[in-house]
Amino acid sequence: MLRPLEVPYRYLFGPGPSNVSPRVLSAGGRPIIGHLHPEMYEIMNDIKEGIRYAFQTNNHMTLAMSGSGHTAMECAVFNIVEPGESVLVSINGVWGERVAEIAERMDIDILYTGSQKALNAPPGTAPISFNERACQKMFNRKSKPVSYLLDMSHLSNYWGNDGKPARMYHHTGPVSGFFTLRESLAILAEKGLENSWRQHREVAEYLWKGLEDLGLQLFIKDKDLRLPSVTTIAIPDGYDWKELLAYIMKHHQMEMTGGLGPSIGMVRRTRLIG
Ligand SMILES: Cc1ncc(COP(=O)(O)O)c(C=O)c1O
Repeated sequence: MLRPLEVPYRYLFGPGPSNVSPRVLSAGGRPIIGHLHPEMYEIMNDIKEGIRYAFQTNNHMTLAMSGSGHTAMECAVFNIVEPGESVLVSINGVWGERVAEIAERMDIDILYTGSQKALNAPPGTAPISFNERACQKMFNRKSKPVSYLLDMSHLSNYWGNDGKPARMYHHTGPVSGFFTLRESLAILAEKGLENSWRQHREVAEYLWKGLEDLGLQLFIKDKDLRLPSVTTIAIPDGYDWKELLAYIMKHHQMEMTGGLGPSIGMVRRTRLIG
């Protein structure tokens, strides 16, 4: 502890965080300002615009949660679902399973992500956007959400989305996290969403070909069903997935991850989400 912080350089090909650009890194090193300073409000306004662009939505109720992707998922559920309501959850992986565990009703339009997922920002903030129908539901509920921190009636004011002239203290936002999120959204807007999609597709196809040329098998055979952001590589017979991942990390400083839920032990996952 009695020495300055040291962090190794790693090649991050896991499910996020990814390696971020020097511009985003240096945004995180800017001087701290108060979370209620006017400059911070301007940065938060930029973030809202950037998220609307990234999500391709005009939803007024768009903001970033102070917390990881999980925070946004729980915010969606806690604000929309009231005790006693029933929920329809489509389970297509572990996140559906988790929502099913915590939710009771969710048939509305809410979109969320984590800052480390394809936005190429450090983890710790989570863009979220609610459409009109979702706002109608959550702002006309009979009971208060169980969480104060995730209560959208407070957060909508904190983010200047409730039409009131003054923004009130609700919690202390992660100032440096908002700087980096703002900057990663600015980079995305400068590059253009279509260019970013195309670039992800091109590098994914390059990766798929390279892996196949090495004799490795891709887990999803049909190209059209593959995500450009996540590539699942079948574990070759006779190999232990944990040993493979540990070897790559030890010898190449490269992070990849194993399968989650039903695919555990069957695949290695590598992501191109930077
Ligand atoms: C759909 C979904 N929801 C929530 C999360 C949780 O995000 P975080 O790890 O940032 O809390 C993830 C992470 O992979 C996810 O894919």
